[in-house]
Amino acid sequence: MSTAPDATPRPPIALPVRLPDGSRLELGTATASYQVEGAIHEDGRGPSIWDTFTAREGTIRDGSDGAVACDSYHRYTEDADLVAGLGLDWYRFSVAWPRIVPEGRGRVEQRGLDYYDRLVDALLERGVKPTGTLYHWDLPQPLEDEGGWLERSTAEAFADYAEVVAARLGDRVGLWATHNEPWCAAYLGYAAGVHAPGRREGGRAHRAAFHLVLGHALAAERLRAQAGAAGRGIDVGIVLNNAPIWPARPEAEDVADGVDAIRNRVWLGPLVDGAYDEGMLRVAPELADPDLVREGDLARIQGSADWVGLNYYTPVRPDLPGEGRSDHPEGGAYPGVAPFELVVRQPITDIGWEIDATGLDELIRTTAERTGLPVLVMENGAACADTQVVDGTVQDTDRIDYLRDHLAAAERARAAGADLRAYVVWTLLDNFEWAEGYTKTFGIVHIDPATQARTPKASYHWLAEAVRERTTPPAS
Ligand code: FCB
Repeated sequence: MSTAPDATPRPPIALPVRLPDGSRLELGTATASYQVEGAIHEDGRGPSIWDTFTAREGTIRDGSDGAVACDSYHRYTEDADLVAGLGLDWYRFSVAWPRIVPEGRGRVEQRGLDYYDRLVDALLERGVKPTGTLYHWDLPQPLEDEGGWLERSTAEAFADYAEVVAARLGDRVGLWATHNEPWCAAYLGYAAGVHAPGRREGGRAHRAAFHLVLGHALAAERLRAQAGAAGRGIDVGIVLNNAPIWPARPEAEDVADGVDAIRNRVWLGPLVDGAYDEGMLRVAPELADPDLVREGDLARIQGSADWVGLNYYTPVRPDLPGEGRSDHPEGGAYPGVAPFELVVRQPITDIGWEIDATGLDELIRTTAERTGLPVLVMENGAACADTQVVDGTVQDTDRIDYLRDHLAAAERARAAGADLRAYVVWTLLDNFEWAEGYTKTFGIVHIDPATQARTPKASYHWLAEAVRERTTPPAS
């Protein structure tokens, strides 16, 4: 069967079947709790910062929120069927902290744990390996009321919560990500203010970045101790949206270095070297404060990841101000860097992000070299203008092209020697796309907002066939 929707001949791309160590490249798809679950008042879930943020006028493009989303809280077996239909190895889901510890610390809500227990079993029954993410941005609001990620106590509460989740699911879920894209949580949340909690704290956002990576290390310690006591293995990593930083011209190299510091080195420095480099401290002098980064903290963070996850969508091209775009929503997200602009070249996806698959190839190779760790691509995908169901499907040809090119780029990086272990497609379902609400769709399955009916798009069928063949089907 060929489901490629047009007649343009496309060269087949051999997906690696065996990696150098004898294992197989794992293929998966991902979602995140707040983006798909809905049921925000059910089974004792407490409020999260995204409930609060979405309720504020003007924060979300279409004024929407995640109250219903894809209703996956009730339809998770349907979702598990869809994943199984793809024949994928993995489903990457995230756990909503406010479902498990509604006040952020202390009391544990068993009904919240029961939900993830059912989800994990539904996946396993269908032969899909569940991989969990502990923090995909839905911080319990009571913790934000105490200062959120600007405070060390949030990192400590995160480790307690992580242990509770792993105690319940660790017998069936062996691969855990602590954080998803802590750059977004820290800098879009506390500097640019375009994500929850919507604060514009300037350089104080570096405190959030530090507490996030500290929280990762504290949680990883607890998960390993627990797995060790239970006599089982565990792989704990962190998923970063590090990006290739390509200065638009030589004069922009300085600002590009600052952007690289805040986007990439703020994580890799502590994780790999147990230190922040000089250029990093120049743009973020806050990180040299011994009351923030206490003695022993960096040593604890160093080496705390077994693997590093990468979410890649687009390269970042800083330029001096006066060129390119000045209204970029991420504009305020790099506190401490001299004024700059972000240039976006054509072609772009429906969300305005430049398409350049060579960025993925470069990012995988440089990250593998820099960290010496296995690399997992934990998100990659495209927003397309694809809301029309015609003859029972959606012809999202652009998405197929995007995925094909990026899979090829991942394969190039692997062939060049990078220790790449997984490639995960964002996302299974059209869902709540944060500040864009439901106006941007990344799913390989269309959702009818009125009925919640799930309709696999052409890209779903394409991916299923790619998985089946472990080679990309040529169009016929
Ligand atoms: C990433 C997020 C994910 C989704 C994609 C499009 O930054 O991790 O939740 O919104 O972007």
